[in-house]
Amino acid sequence: MLKRYIILCAAAALLLTGCGRKDEDTVKNIKIGVTLYDQYDTFISELMNVFTSCASEKEEESGIAINIETLDASGSQTTQNEQVQMLIEKGCDVICVNLVDRTEPTTITDMAEKNGVPIIFFNRELVSEDLERWDQLYYVGADAFESGVLQGELAASAFKNNPAMDKNGDGICQYIVLEGEAGHQDSIVRTEYSINTLMEQGVEVEKLGYAIANWNRAQAQTKTATMFAQYGNRIELILANNDDMALGAIDELKAAELPREMWPVVIGIDGTDVGLEAVKKGEMTATVYNDKEGQAKGMLELAYSIVTGNPLSEEFELQDGKYIRLPYQIVTKDNLEEIQK
Ligand code: GAL
Repeated sequence: MLKRYIILCAAAALLLTGCGRKDEDTVKNIKIGVTLYDQYDTFISELMNVFTSCASEKEEESGIAINIETLDASGSQTTQNEQVQMLIEKGCDVICVNLVDRTEPTTITDMAEKNGVPIIFFNRELVSEDLERWDQLYYVGADAFESGVLQGELAASAFKNNPAMDKNGDGICQYIVLEGEAGHQDSIVRTEYSINTLMEQGVEVEKLGYAIANWNRAQAQTKTATMFAQYGNRIELILANNDDMALGAIDELKAAELPREMWPVVIGIDGTDVGLEAVKKGEMTATVYNDKEGQAKGMLELAYSIVTGNPLSEEFELQDGKYIRLPYQIVTKDNLEEIQK
């Protein structure tokens, strides 16, 4: 009888604490698995550095050991699915997934649900229907449209305040776009909203060309070289979906030995360490800060709260019980110091 009672109580306790959740008072360590779409992506690697230091701070503050195992899926969804399986088998309490293919989360979510291991997706946003498939699926990131709008505002103010930017003096802003991956929400939405905002702000635009450069500096340089061969000095503005591609364009301006006063205005998104340096040097006119500190900390705090059952730190809001989104911020020479702090 007593044995039956104990089993019933244990089952009830399990139900109460929920999937992936340890008993608050008995948690001595937390094991977090992480799988990245590409560990060499500049923004992702900077975000992960912050994530690791947030975990060390949290360990000190809470007295709970936090063990992080990070794997690189190197651009393969199949590899990433296998990594999640392995991380589950290794006993991770929660897994953070930077999806390779944001349209293919089903294998991962099915495995996670079957094994009761919560998943925090981050940076590469899946469609909301996929996140609804189980109540222990979360997303941490930022609203892509906001970065597009801010980039458009930066471009509009550059064009309006700097007559020399209109090289041919026709009152129209001739531009090219360097896009991230095809199908990535940040590429599609950033491009659309930056151009729409530019027009809404009263700037007449002419698109000369665009190229997909997969967030990558070297690819962006090559693509910029091709567009320069075609449009030359007609290019007045280069909008890049991220800083690394903006830097690739700048590499090409330097390689082509274009005199500094002939450079088109270059605007990025991210505010990576190298990106901010380029703004400081005046090579990149401006960028939009993608809050890697906030996203990394939000992800760590969410993981901690899921596993321990403690409420989520008040610094963060869990929207619809699933989303943490951090705001973007414009960066120009004027507020650079504040951002670099
Ligand atoms: C974006 C970021 C890019 C790249 C991409 C990867 O949010 O701006 O630089 O890191 O995520 O998914």
